Amino acid sequence: MMTKTWFITGTSSGFGKDLAIRLAQEKDTNLVATARHVEALDYLDQYDQGQILKAELDVTKPEQIKKSVALAMEKFGRIDVLDNNAGLGYFSTFEEGTTKDIQKMFDVNVFGLINMTKEVLPIMRQQNAGVIMGLSSVLGQVGLPSLSYYAGTKFAVEGMYEALQGELAKTNIQVMLIEPSGFRTDWAGRSSNKTATQFPDVYGDVQAGIDAVGKGDEAGDPKKAAEIIVKTVNGSADLPFRLPLGQASVEGTEAKLKADLAEIEKLHDQAVSADFD
Ligand SMILES: NC(=O)c1ccc[n+]([C@@H]2O[C@H](COP(=O)([O-])OP(=O)(O)OC[C@H]3O[C@@H](n4cnc5c(N)ncnc54)[C@H](OP(=O)(O)O)[C@@H]3O)[C@@H](O)[C@H]2O)c1
Repeated sequence: MMTKTWFITGTSSGFGKDLAIRLAQEKDTNLVATARHVEALDYLDQYDQGQILKAELDVTKPEQIKKSVALAMEKFGRIDVLDNNAGLGYFSTFEEGTTKDIQKMFDVNVFGLINMTKEVLPIMRQQNAGVIMGLSSVLGQVGLPSLSYYAGTKFAVEGMYEALQGELAKTNIQVMLIEPSGFRTDWAGRSSNKTATQFPDVYGDVQAGIDAVGKGDEAGDPKKAAEIIVKTVNGSADLPFRLPLGQASVEGTEAKLKADLAEIEKLHDQAVSADFD
């Protein structure tokens, strides 16, 4: 098998860290593990036999995107898999979400992913090969109370990558969205700001949902997710465009798609009637 070089953002904890540990032990694999604070990547040293590059990368800093990609190319000469993993959450009612918190999350989840993808695309286009992964969420398929803005970031990623996949149809570059439900990482804890509601009479149920998260009891195991991601990318030439992970993800998406389909079928003839005769 040809050696594959993976480039992952946000490998200090959670999905990114477990995937990095998994790949650090994989044969024929180079790993570019990146994080805002490179000291957070010391856990990789025990696996390093020259196949690992640790690089400083805050995805909201374009100069660090450029530098880390350049370092990766200098050391390994190619990037085969880009995993846009870094991401934040934000729990709030839609009405009370603060512009500062919303902006901060969009800067990482959306603009960070855009800028990373644009930096790596020319390399993959020249290679005429590569896999571009977006860490989306089941919330890229379903909007849920208390996570309107987070869902907004993930729906944005889904729409952009669906279009990108179409644009890349003539290449051997594949795009894949990863859609986990709740997994036991730092996401709902230190990686998510929370705004409490001032209107419990209307938003009491939303607040109860916010209070219930971040306790470390999510159903999903990020090590198992890493295993599935590696097997999927290494296992088949033809990747699924959407990779659901976790029971709540796959069942949540199935229910949503069925409900949407039932509604759209009812509206089909009326929609068609709006076109010129
Ligand atoms: N856990 C879940 O339930 C779940 C479900 C669906 C989707 N996701 C998505 O999974 C991805 C990974 O999150 P996780 O669950 O593994 O949570 P996590 O353990 O909190 O990891 C988040 C990672 O993103 C990094 N990060 C934050 N801001 C960054 C920035 N500006 N530049 C670079 N890295 C940055 C963090 O680095 P620092 O250590 O420097 O903060 C950390 O490494 C996110 O995109 C999240 O939206 C998570």
